[in-house]
This record gives sequence, structure tokens and C-alpha cells, in this order.
Amino acid sequence: MQLESLLQQLSDGQFHSGQALADRHGVSRTAIWKQISALAELGLNVERVRGQGYRIPGGIRLLDAASITSGLSDSARNLLGDLCILRHVDSTNLALRRGESLASGRARVVLSEMQTDGRGRHGRRWQSPFARNVYLSMDWRFDGGVQELEGLSLALGVVVADALAECGAPGVTLKWPNDLLHEGRKLGGILVEISGDAEGPCEAIIGIGLNVDMRNPGEQAPDQPWSDAITAGWERPDRNRLVAALLNHCLPMLATYAVDTFSVWQQRWMARDAFSGQPVELHSGSRRLAGVARGVDVHGALLLETAQGIQAIGGGEVSLRRAERSE
Ligand code: BTN
Repeated sequence: MQLESLLQQLSDGQFHSGQALADRHGVSRTAIWKQISALAELGLNVERVRGQGYRIPGGIRLLDAASITSGLSDSARNLLGDLCILRHVDSTNLALRRGESLASGRARVVLSEMQTDGRGRHGRRWQSPFARNVYLSMDWRFDGGVQELEGLSLALGVVVADALAECGAPGVTLKWPNDLLHEGRKLGGILVEISGDAEGPCEAIIGIGLNVDMRNPGEQAPDQPWSDAITAGWERPDRNRLVAALLNHCLPMLATYAVDTFSVWQQRWMARDAFSGQPVELHSGSRRLAGVARGVDVHGALLLETAQGIQAIGGGEVSLRRAERSE
């Protein structure tokens, strides 16, 4: 019996007796019980009530390629080379890295219902519970070298926030270089990993993690203040619709980024800047630099006003925090 078909059946949120499931799949009730345990190990809440059977309370709507592609614009459809939906994986970024890249001009996209080794910036872990959020990676080949990609992750932040607004979660702000916030709490993050030639062809693997429904996250709660699309106002979230919106916004942007460069996105990034005019601290290893955030320059570098004047700070391993007020 396939775990997949059991999952599909239970996704309706109704009770299914062990016997009915066993008959339907032509296996023993013990085999069903083992598969239910495997689903629980993925982090799914499968309830068992004596006399009624098993159910997933509230049901779940799984990621689905047909629903996603039906929501794509013509432009995104033409730029999408391959769409792969997994039930579980270590990391969608790693899955893309293991595969073979396509010819330039088309993206591979990998989504997973959960990640066992979801990765964030600075080597952090990205909590990735089953069927609640979006874990999406896509790749794109650029011909002009790494330098032209400065600012790419910021431009992605702009279009991801636009996609969320289109779906019903407005008011998402951006924290340099690539965090998505709602009311100061982390709603999502972007991890761009670039490999290849410093001055020639290179490949960007872009990982986007968005919290959609983190009600009752249990042990899977992120280790920092977090928010989700429901809290940001999206009452009836539909992850397939969100993924389509993400691809509609991100793919055309990737296709034109090398020509446009970040200068086209600078003002739109600043319009969503969560820290503009605020005292901040930059941390890089044991180094610390305090100042006032003054937006970003045409390359996407943070503009920090210090006693020495305005300094432009590039991304890399630098992280930004709100400064502690000394009163
Ligand atoms: C951050 O630290 O804010 C970036 C988080 C990026 C998480 C996403 S989830 C999809 C993709 N796969 C990963 O392992 N990480 C990225």
C-alpha cells in the first residue's frame, strides 16, 4: 500500500475506520496502523477515536501540480521548466543542487510538504512542519557572473511580499537583506545560494520559506518571534494559490533581473523597509556596528548612518538587529 493514497484519503478530515481503510487498500489493519504511525512520524496529527477510526482533524489540502499550474500566468508558464512536488525531503535547495540544471531561460521548481533539514541563513535550521507552510526552491542561470546578482535576494523579497499581498496578506515588510516580516515578526525568509563562475555563467538556487499556518506548532516552533500568513490577514489560506502567485511574480523578475539590475527594485524595497530611520546594530562574527538604517543603495547594500557618515554595507554573513535602547 502506498503511504500516498492513505494520505490522500485522510486529507478529507473525515473519520475512516481501520477496517474500511484495510479493505480499500487490500492489506491488514496492522499494516494500516503502521502506515498511520509513519504519517505521524512526518509530524501529521492523525487522531484515533475508538469506534470511529482515524482522521486528520480539519483535513489538509495538499500541494498539487494541476492546481498550481492552472493559476500560472502565460509568462510564468513559459519560464517554468520543471515542477516537482515532494511529500518530504531534507531540503528543497539541496534537492535542486543534486539534480541537473536546465538550459538557461527556464527554471526548475521544487516544493515539499516538509523538510527534515530545512536550511536558513547563517547555517540556521528552518522549521518545516508538514503541509502547513511553503518550502519552495527554484533555480536560474545567469551569464554575467556573481557581481550582477548583488541585490537579487532583496528584489525577490519585494516580489514575494507582492505575491502575499495579492493573496490576502498585505502589510508584509522587509528586513535587510532578505527577511519577510509581519508586525516585526518573521513570516518568511529567502536563501540564495550561488555557484559557478565569478565572472561568467553561474546558477542561483533560490529557497523561499513562508509560514502560512503556524497555529499550534508544538515542538516545531521557530526559535525567534514569528508570524504567519493567517496572522497577517489571510483568512482562508490556499498554498497552491500562493505558490502560483509566487511563480507569477518571481519567474518574470528572474528573467529580466540581469538587464534591469537592482536599481529598478530599489524604491519598491524601500517602500517596504521595516527598519527605515531606526537605530540598528549590524553583527558579523564578533564585530558589531551601530547606526541608523537609511534604506539601501542601487546595488542593494544597506545604508548605515554612523558618526563617520553614511556607509554602504554588503550582504554576506552580516545580520541586522534592532538596537537595544539605552535609557
Ligand atoms: C532565512 O534564514 O531566513 C532563509 C530561510 C530559507 C528557507 C527556505 S525553505 C525552502 C528552501 N529550502 C531550504 O532548506 N531553505 C529554503
